Amino acid sequence: MNEALAKIKIEKLREGINFHNYRYYVLDDPVISDAEYDQLIRSLENLEKQFPNLVIPSSPTQRVGAPPLDKFEEVRHGTPMLSLANAFEEAEVKEFDSRVKRFLGTSGDIEYCAELKMDGVAVELIYENGLFTTGSTRGDGFVGENVTQNLKTVKTIPLTLIPGQGESPPSRLEVRGEVYLPIKALEELNRQREKSGETLFANPRNAAAGSLRQLDSSITAKRPLDIFCYGVGQVSGRSFETQWDLLQTLLHWGFKVNPNRRRCRKIEEVFDFYREMDESRDKFPYEIDGVVIKVNSLRLQETLGNIARSPRWALAFKFKPKQVVTKIRDIIVNVGRTGALTPTAIMDPVRVGGVEISRATLHNQDEIDKKDVRIGDTVVIQRAGDVIPEVVRVVVEKRTGQEKKFRIPDKCPACGADVEKPRGEKKKKGMAVARCTGIACPAKLKENIIHFASRDALNIEGLGEKIIEQLVDKGLVKDYADLYALTLEDLLTLERMGEKLSGNILAALQRSKKTSLDRLIYALGILHVGEHIAKLLVRKFSALEELSRASMEKLKTISGIGDEIAASIVQFFKQKDNQRVIRKLKELGVEYPAQLPQAPPTLRKLEGKIFVFTGALKTLSREEAEFRVESLGGQASSSVSKKTDFLVVGEDPGSKYEKAQNLGVKILTEDEFLKMLAPEDR
Ligand code: IVH
Repeated sequence: MNEALAKIKIEKLREGINFHNYRYYVLDDPVISDAEYDQLIRSLENLEKQFPNLVIPSSPTQRVGAPPLDKFEEVRHGTPMLSLANAFEEAEVKEFDSRVKRFLGTSGDIEYCAELKMDGVAVELIYENGLFTTGSTRGDGFVGENVTQNLKTVKTIPLTLIPGQGESPPSRLEVRGEVYLPIKALEELNRQREKSGETLFANPRNAAAGSLRQLDSSITAKRPLDIFCYGVGQVSGRSFETQWDLLQTLLHWGFKVNPNRRRCRKIEEVFDFYREMDESRDKFPYEIDGVVIKVNSLRLQETLGNIARSPRWALAFKFKPKQVVTKIRDIIVNVGRTGALTPTAIMDPVRVGGVEISRATLHNQDEIDKKDVRIGDTVVIQRAGDVIPEVVRVVVEKRTGQEKKFRIPDKCPACGADVEKPRGEKKKKGMAVARCTGIACPAKLKENIIHFASRDALNIEGLGEKIIEQLVDKGLVKDYADLYALTLEDLLTLERMGEKLSGNILAALQRSKKTSLDRLIYALGILHVGEHIAKLLVRKFSALEELSRASMEKLKTISGIGDEIAASIVQFFKQKDNQRVIRKLKELGVEYPAQLPQAPPTLRKLEGKIFVFTGALKTLSREEAEFRVESLGGQASSSVSKKTDFLVVGEDPGSKYEKAQNLGVKILTEDEFLKMLAPEDR
């Protein structure tokens, strides 16, 4: 066959396969058998193999098979991806309806489009001239991660649009939707993870997010992710009158749109929809957490606009958590990475909100005492989306007298060291966490090392939980620095470990030594210091040694760091043993690049100026604003004092506003603030 003929054949096949994909995955109404479909795919694959230069990224054969990435690129969203305000009661929804009317200056009924609120992750899909080119996560609403390869594995995402007859597709189309993992798939995935000793996904949302953030798209391809599309960003050359029309058009273009939606002529009709959906909630194969109410007219939506980071024209009306009754068989205690002892109830398995449950968290001794939960009790539990639910109360009438009271043990179940139990003030404040005091507690050590090696920390690929467990149990690793002293011989003593795998792990260890300061700080596992706090710290400290000498006062000048976090950091670096491990890490070659040079003096135009923010800014998040100030040499602080130079006031300012006025601090509006940030005119 010559290339010209192959090209025609290939195009015909692709068109056919796309059509059958749509029938099968989106409409759930196939018109050919699976065998016939497979035959089409095989013919296309064969032709593409013979004529590799005819392969294009949007071919249905290209859904899997891209090489793994090192990291995700950033994607800036054309229009920000907003979030929704929540309501839990009918009264709040009525208030929303009145607010909409007030704002629009009308007393007539407002038409709404009511949809399901899917519990997954928001994504944006970009189509250029009808071809799927870029897919990204929501991220912080402004900038997300490029997860195109992973999204291509989602069979319900069309790679090419199906434009209407005689219509050409928009030159640019940004579609928004929620990617989710069906409940059955989550249960299956968690069963597998339990078997291989991996941590379980707490809810379908985490599972969807975790699956979408795989650098290797072949892993994502194994997870049966799905999508429902619910909106658009920019669309060139095409406008819509209503949200309803928009959804209808998306469906015709080939996107999956949730069929459970309703056009409601007034808010009361939305309540009917909400009740019906709440009642049939357990029947959906996916998790939903409420109903999204949107003003149907896009013209009115535009008039209404946004407030802070949510639209004034939409509201999420959440469902109440599902409650059921079951019996507690036992209470066990888990020791976490920070040494916290958490009591967990083991119960007769029950289904709540479509998920089978056999454990519930009891949080701490205080909770157990307050609710008077005993082993053998019949209890009401509730699930608010997470796989691990909460005990709401004991059904006291069901007591037989055989129930046993429970107390957190005095010795750590993992290492036998004393357990420190909260007393006095802390207990009163409800911070009743019991902690193991053993420094070498294996429960902490394993968790510490798992955390240290995890992707967002030092990212030691291939060093899984099973391996870490063995390394600790065999005494090969007593702290995380020991990882870097491991030899091939050490690794070969482990079960199911060959030369190849050992070699890979050693190479990954080697690679992980070159890291960044914020990752390293995060990896240390300091109580209360997550990724975000680690990032804040590196803006002020350029070396670990410097951070380790920092005083409470110095730490607290960083906006976002208060007493508790500062105390935890100081406490951590005070420990001689921790200092020893940090020195050892350095000796074994763990390093990070010196901090980026500061902006040249001409650009440090806010040098020495202290800014405080109050209320929500319209165009920047608080973090972005603080970052901008600091990158120009200024300082952002969380409280107003005499030293404050400027208070930037957004919508709904708090008490700082009054304080600043009393102290005579200069007050800036958002616009004035933005002008200060802008580069000087030349
Ligand atoms: S509309 C500005 N519609 O809920 C409009 N969102 O809290 C924002 N979500 O980030 C989105 N189902 O991830 C919309 N039918 C639906 C939705 C939905 C789920 C998620 C979405 C969004 C979050 C907002």
